[in-house]
Amino acid sequence: MNDFVSDTIRPVRFADDRLWLLDQRRLPAQETFLPLDDAPAVADAIREMVVRGAPAIGITAAFGVVLACHQALQATDWRERVGADIATLRAARPTAVNLFWALDRMQAVVAAAGSARAALTATRETAMAMLEADIAGNRELGAHGAALIEPGRAVLTHCNTGSLATGGYGTALGVIRAAWDQGRITGVYADETRPWMQGSRLTAWELVHDGIPVTLLCEGAAARLLQSGEVGCVVVGADRIAANGDTANKIGTYGLALLARAHGVRFMVAAPVATIDYATPAGDAIPIEQRDAGEVLTLAGQPLAAAGAAAYNPAFDVTPAGLIDAIVTERGVIENPDAERLAAWRPHPGDT
Ligand code: MRU
Repeated sequence: MNDFVSDTIRPVRFADDRLWLLDQRRLPAQETFLPLDDAPAVADAIREMVVRGAPAIGITAAFGVVLACHQALQATDWRERVGADIATLRAARPTAVNLFWALDRMQAVVAAAGSARAALTATRETAMAMLEADIAGNRELGAHGAALIEPGRAVLTHCNTGSLATGGYGTALGVIRAAWDQGRITGVYADETRPWMQGSRLTAWELVHDGIPVTLLCEGAAARLLQSGEVGCVVVGADRIAANGDTANKIGTYGLALLARAHGVRFMVAAPVATIDYATPAGDAIPIEQRDAGEVLTLAGQPLAAAGAAAYNPAFDVTPAGLIDAIVTERGVIENPDAERLAAWRPHPGDT
């Protein structure tokens, strides 16, 4: 077991009063970091998928608030300026609740500060702590999830839930990293994840980087794979878990859950507690982002379809709680999630 091999990618860095984001649009061909200096640029980076993945979006937005405080240091109306920047960050993407969770926390930190300088210091400390807590939490989550995987078979995952989608280590990919380190799995199957190709461009890059065997498949091949018996468990992440356990995640997740149930394969959702949205009672109330048709109609700038064809491009779907065998968090496992079981996990006021 090697504790460090699978934990070296840090996509979000803050140094010299600048936010540096590993540009995920360019992976795997290029590994370049983009420097950002203000909150509107951070909102654009989230919208344009320089950074993506629910926890990474939240952490990035938190650093966006640090930049907002920095920019407003000399202004008498610094509170108003920072407030406007937080509103801009909130509008970046609608589905991942971690964005709003992080911004609510940062807004409270700004409200409690007596000066712009104090706000800058306190937001920087909070954002750094959020980043470190995310990485530590993912390691806990990974250990809880790995323990649920029966040894001897492969796992199937969808989208990218690894270091790139978090502060580091990953959620579903954290479970997979821990399971691999413990010798529980024979390898990883990764959906390519059309249309943005998070699976082939990002998950495969991370797993190859860490020396974990990865085999890519088109989503259409998942039914045959699950029918074959080679896969013991499907592990995915989440963008928002409603209070009854219904889970929004990358488009295609719901189909995988149906296939897993049909073939008697366990279906696990891995996410930090911050991804549970107790204010949203059920999945039908989760806002689903619709993205540009061009993501479906073109590939690497080349047209894939006849001019005039339309495209249906929801970025996420909702898996009903009844199809989920377990939700794994940094605090432990919720088996067969439903409203009652999730309510027992609700953080108390003042919990961090
Ligand atoms: O559109 P994306 O790439 O931001 O979607 C990412 C996902 O759906 C992930 O599965 C989810 O955010 C969990 S990441 C730990």
